[in-house]
Amino acid sequence: MKNNDRRNFLKAGAAVSGSLLLSPALGFAQTAANDKKKNTGSKYRTLGTGKHSLKVNYGLGLGCMGMSWHRTFIPDRKPMIELIRKAYEMGVNFFDTAEAYGPWRNEELVGEAIQPFRKKIILCSKFGFNIRDGKLDGLNSKPAHIREVVEQSLKRLKTDYIDLLYQHRVDPAVPIEDVAGTVKDLIKEGKVLHFGLSEADPVNIRKAHAVQQVTALQTEYSLITRDPEGEILNTCEQLGIGFVPYSPIARALLTGYINPLTKYVADNDNRDTLPRYTPEAVKANWPLMEAIADFGNQRGLTAAQVSLAWLMAQKPWIVPIPGTTKQAHLQENLWSADYEFTPDELKTFIEKISSIKITGARS
Ligand SMILES: NC(=O)c1ccc[n+]([C@@H]2O[C@H](COP(=O)([O-])OP(=O)(O)OC[C@H]3O[C@@H](n4cnc5c(N)ncnc54)[C@H](OP(=O)(O)O)[C@@H]3O)[C@@H](O)[C@H]2O)c1
Repeated sequence: MKNNDRRNFLKAGAAVSGSLLLSPALGFAQTAANDKKKNTGSKYRTLGTGKHSLKVNYGLGLGCMGMSWHRTFIPDRKPMIELIRKAYEMGVNFFDTAEAYGPWRNEELVGEAIQPFRKKIILCSKFGFNIRDGKLDGLNSKPAHIREVVEQSLKRLKTDYIDLLYQHRVDPAVPIEDVAGTVKDLIKEGKVLHFGLSEADPVNIRKAHAVQQVTALQTEYSLITRDPEGEILNTCEQLGIGFVPYSPIARALLTGYINPLTKYVADNDNRDTLPRYTPEAVKANWPLMEAIADFGNQRGLTAAQVSLAWLMAQKPWIVPIPGTTKQAHLQENLWSADYEFTPDELKTFIEKISSIKITGARS
């Protein structure tokens, strides 16, 4: 990236940053540390193994859900299309959407945005729900339904193949082998290139993988939600499956932007329903934010960057997909790929984080 462009990003970043409760340095930490960083997109991480592997630039993708759904404010389509195209120009090649987001609207948005470079990116989508009257209405991974959804997703995405197709949630009513078998057939037909699961447990991961090699597991993982550590990540490691943390900055909670006064629009924000986003829980969990901010403030990193860099430090096959509607945040998040924790930093930081009691269930 040219220096002028970088300076513009820094200005934009400073203009939109800021936190009511944390030290100002948290929001304005685009400092010398970032100035040195390159924005080449030449770094990458690999998800999955062999012919079912995918090379993700930066080792970070772009979660597109919040451009249409679940994050209070729905921005206009045009700037979001421009943002997705800008992300591609910046080297991002991994874009995440799902039939459920909107529903449908997000796939339509992403489909339009990626047209100029469709074949050069990794397009990820998901199936797994019934949708009635424009609302999610229970799980459905029946083989015939998967096929129907894929046909419709292909139309909305304006493409003839999906690079990485995830089952969004395991459907207890359908054996996972049948789901994997259906995706295997879709792969043979060329409509899908790779198979993924989301929030699946080790038993289902193993059963699915035995039928059709799984490229990636997408599951919530962040400094406040460390549930995948242990059995889930071990299973992925053993089987050579990549891991994609969703909500990697905990839906903005780990950035310092959310405070006990934050209001959500219940019609379009699931944070209103999640126990960790109540004013009481945000306040009770503030020591976690302070620990993240302290670490970042001493290194010229924002809290979002610390959170993303920490996830990437866990395993080389972890590829977070932070969502954003702002170019300044996108740039800030991509820079996190340049920060490498030393072994000592990892040890002391996680000791500190682990000593903090988290209030409020994940869901
Ligand atoms: N598989 C699943 O079940 C599942 C579930 C949820 C999400 N996902 C996927 O994961 C993606 C990301 O998850 P998510 O959107 O829930 O959570 P997230 O990425 O942890 O957080 C997104 C939120 O953080 C804010 N943000 C992003 N970068 C920031 C920065 N540098 N500084 C301050 N705020 C920042 C965004 O607001 P701004 O727009 O203001 O930047 C947005 O409100 C989604 O887009 C979706 O593709 C998958």
